[in-house]
Amino acid sequence: MAGAKSFSCFAVIAAALLLVLLNVAVLSHGGKTSTFIRKVERTEDMPLHSDVFLAPSGYNAPQQVHITLGDHVGRAMIVSWVTMDEPGKSIVYYWREECPHKKEVAKGNHVTYRFFNYSSGFIHHCTLRDLEFNKMYYYEIGIGHTRRQFWFVTPPEMHPDAPYTFGLIGDLGQTFDSNKTLAHYESNPQKGQAVLFVGDLSYADDHPNHDNVRWDTWGRFVERSTAYQPWIWATGNHELDYAPELGETEPFKPFRHRYHAPYQASGSTEPFWYSVKIASAHIIVLASYSAYGKYTPQYEWLEAELTKVDRSKTPWLIVLVHSPWYNSYNYHYMEGESMRVMFEPWFVKYKVDVVFAGHVHAYERSERISNIEYNIINGRCGPSKDLSAPVYITIGDGGNIEGLATNMTNPQPEYSAYREASFGHAIFEIKNRTHAHYSWHRNEDDYATIADSMWFFNRYWHPADDSTTK
Ligand SMILES: [Fe+2]
Repeated sequence: MAGAKSFSCFAVIAAALLLVLLNVAVLSHGGKTSTFIRKVERTEDMPLHSDVFLAPSGYNAPQQVHITLGDHVGRAMIVSWVTMDEPGKSIVYYWREECPHKKEVAKGNHVTYRFFNYSSGFIHHCTLRDLEFNKMYYYEIGIGHTRRQFWFVTPPEMHPDAPYTFGLIGDLGQTFDSNKTLAHYESNPQKGQAVLFVGDLSYADDHPNHDNVRWDTWGRFVERSTAYQPWIWATGNHELDYAPELGETEPFKPFRHRYHAPYQASGSTEPFWYSVKIASAHIIVLASYSAYGKYTPQYEWLEAELTKVDRSKTPWLIVLVHSPWYNSYNYHYMEGESMRVMFEPWFVKYKVDVVFAGHVHAYERSERISNIEYNIINGRCGPSKDLSAPVYITIGDGGNIEGLATNMTNPQPEYSAYREASFGHAIFEIKNRTHAHYSWHRNEDDYATIADSMWFFNRYWHPADDSTTK
């Protein structure tokens, strides 16, 4: 009897272990397709009266406050906000935390735009310059009793071993899931110091007539983070707002008026592709929806830009682009292929550490692979392991109105290290010139839980194999 009992006990344990294994991952060529089970619900935009959309009280109170880097190295910050009733003043008062009596004033300007039957508020942009590195600054906008105060911390001075923690968010939108994603990012114990945003902000264009009121609600929704730390913007297809049926034929009109970038500081001619340097990272933002063929401004800019990257000063080379080059979901399949063909040889040559993309509303992380051998006749047109190549991460899982991308190609391609159709965000935590810890956090888990992770070895300083599935 005792033997039968212990056998059945063993069988139960073995079955439980098998179930756990099956629930965590189905192994396929070494990569994992997560079978995490989530509640499948319709993703809906939060109603207009939601508390996260509330305008600050008071006549002409500044709203939709957001900041981004204002120069190439982190000693300037662009502060942007909207006033709804009248232009008011485009002035920012700011001071260092330890010098509250030494207030400085920066003067910017404001713009407005019309989109079909919508008229924007007064959109202010003001650049604070000559900031000191790694200091906390307070800033104030608005006048009289509607004055509002915020703060930010400037990045540390560039140094090859300067640690820094980036948040990664994409395709956010303004649904209940978007709110969860932002809350998870804010509450993540690995505190992000700046957000690398991989495009598709408000999804206003999913509403009738591209209802630009949804650009305003989005600005108010994300203010709780964007007013306090720089968000580095990449543009997605939902920023195009190209609507000839409405008489709107100027691409990126709402985005261009509302969100600025320090593109001229890196020699770019458009705010859609540019670079910034933060701590020990050189970040290149590319534009999937601006021309990138040979001889185009973006192509020529990138070709020159890559020669300027100095890994002895900024060891980490990070690229943001909206449309992923490697994507094994049956959504937007191969949309990034033409850009991959144009630029991938450069990314291998210059040893890009990681490429973050969005667009596909799910999560995926690749192995280090490249596919640059093909020359029309040699037939060598598949991805293969390449330790000089970046890791490609799709992080388009912010939780927008269009829902999750759940349909994947099968079997999982060999190059795909981990994929999961859940909403979430990621953290890229640079420790020093050789190591960075990367983690992905799904919304269903507790704030501190890591659903996927990887230790990145820097491609210039420590180009060892850092695959998680070898
Ligand atoms: Fe997209």
